[in-house]
Amino acid sequence: MRASEIRRLVGAARAARRHAVARESGFTVGAALASSDGRVFTGCNVENATLGLTVCAERVALWKALSEGARSFTALAVVARPSAPTPPCGACRQLLWEYCGDIPIVLANARRVTGHHTLAELLPMPFDRRIRG
Ligand code: THU
Repeated sequence: MRASEIRRLVGAARAARRHAVARESGFTVGAALASSDGRVFTGCNVENATLGLTVCAERVALWKALSEGARSFTALAVVARPSAPTPPCGACRQLLWEYCGDIPIVLANARRVTGHHTLAELLPMPFDRRIRG
């Protein structure tokens, strides 16, 4: 990823994190997903009282993108509070793999970038439609 693209995506994810609805955990997350046509779709985590219906920031961004017609993606940024990297959960990794493929993922907090990864590195040996046939 180019430095300008990293700045743009991390900035968008930081801004999205401010909208997080994290009334149960207090753990706020922002995500920004870049599509091949140059758009950026943002998301924040949205929690609920039963906890189980909570949606991660990454999935909110992905659903927004798909529902706006985007089908091809180039990169994802995820921003959370910890100084240690906060990577996407397993469920999000699966969905990101199915819809985005092996995109670069940049992790960051409010002050700095905490990690650079690829989705294939975070989700080795994935199940997908090609296996199902
Ligand atoms: N969460 C995300 O939104 N993305 C991640 O990558 C990790 C976890 C959210 C889900 C829940 O609202 C809160 O963080 C605590 O797990």
